[in-house]
Amino acid sequence: MKIENSLPCSQLPEAPPQTGLQFTVATEEDFDDIMAMSKDIYGGLDYLPSRYQAWLQESNRTVILARKQGKVIALESVCVIDDGETMLVEGLRVAPQERGKGVAGVLLRFCSQLVKSKYPDVKVSRLTRDDQLGPKDFQKYRLITKQGILLVRFRAEDLKLRLGDLGPNISVAGEALSTANIPVCLEPAEVHQLFLSDVLMQDVLPNATIVQDWQPFKPLPSNMAILMKKDIDWMVDDAKRPTMTSLCTFPFHVPIGDDWYYLNIDMFGKNLTLAIQQLLCHLRRHTGTLKGYVMCQVFMEPALWKPMAEFFRETLKVELVKEYTEQCVVESDVI
Ligand SMILES: CC(C)(COP(=O)(O)OP(=O)(O)OC[C@H]1O[C@@H](n2cnc3c(N)ncnc32)[C@H](O)[C@@H]1OP(=O)(O)O)[C@@H](O)C(=O)NCCC(=O)NCCS
Repeated sequence: MKIENSLPCSQLPEAPPQTGLQFTVATEEDFDDIMAMSKDIYGGLDYLPSRYQAWLQESNRTVILARKQGKVIALESVCVIDDGETMLVEGLRVAPQERGKGVAGVLLRFCSQLVKSKYPDVKVSRLTRDDQLGPKDFQKYRLITKQGILLVRFRAEDLKLRLGDLGPNISVAGEALSTANIPVCLEPAEVHQLFLSDVLMQDVLPNATIVQDWQPFKPLPSNMAILMKKDIDWMVDDAKRPTMTSLCTFPFHVPIGDDWYYLNIDMFGKNLTLAIQQLLCHLRRHTGTLKGYVMCQVFMEPALWKPMAEFFRETLKVELVKEYTEQCVVESDVI
């Protein structure tokens, strides 16, 4: 299922002439131009600078650039997953001066046709959005699942001290956290066994979807092979009968400053106490040795957002960066 990232530029079909665009496959040399047009994205918290080199190496991914008179003005990455049936769209961006002119629409359609021509088995296109979707969007997309996004910011050293001060006696909504249910960190073989079991995970994963760091995967062996290559801690409350699971993506740099990191934790399940126990484990494991500032995104069942936000504010004394927003995994047919 390899999309040739090394495809020579000349092999890409031409853009419709009225658009005045050319499309090329992104290379290492394009990095500076891409960063130049991405400066304002996500308030300096763009993940792409950290991911770009790795993306170019991924065998199932291709990164396409749109150029105007040779200059890079837009980017989209497409990745074929779910046993070749899904095209995952990521990284979409258009240079600020070119927005609002339909460039994203042209690029999305071009990439969709390109993938379909090379991979006729691709049936759907999936993407994850965190902007407000309206009725017009839902004419185009089916909603696969949604998670609440809790974005908090702290200095790793401060959180480490705070976690140390808290000791074992932590209470959530007036109840002491039980020491009986210590979260379990899964070994790779256990991850495979558990996540490929429909029976065990059907009540835990929303709409049978593992969303890891914004990427939605169906629990299939081919997807597990992709996931197992990544730096992730997989946690459950009970390795035999899980009701809550969480995936913590190891911290990575964001370009806002040298000592800034992203820490993303995807949580699935509905139990607040179990969620907080896993959250604390992930925070202890990953912020203990970090030095600097952390933007931590926790994705969870929407109903858990409010009490979880309160826990961050009141117990961990951590600042919320924004109020409730949603991560929506959406899908449309590729025709
Ligand atoms: C979002 C963005 C790419 C839209 O670019 P644009 O060229 O102004 O968009 P267009 O004029 O083509 O019109 C919007 C089209 O893009 C789609 N679109 C808008 N936001 C989108 C998103 N986040 N993901 C996918 N598609 C999106 C719209 O549905 C519409 O599609 P249509 O032509 O089928 O109706 C651009 O504003 C941008 O770069 N923003 C900053 C980066 C960002 O937020 N990226 C999205 C998340 S990765």
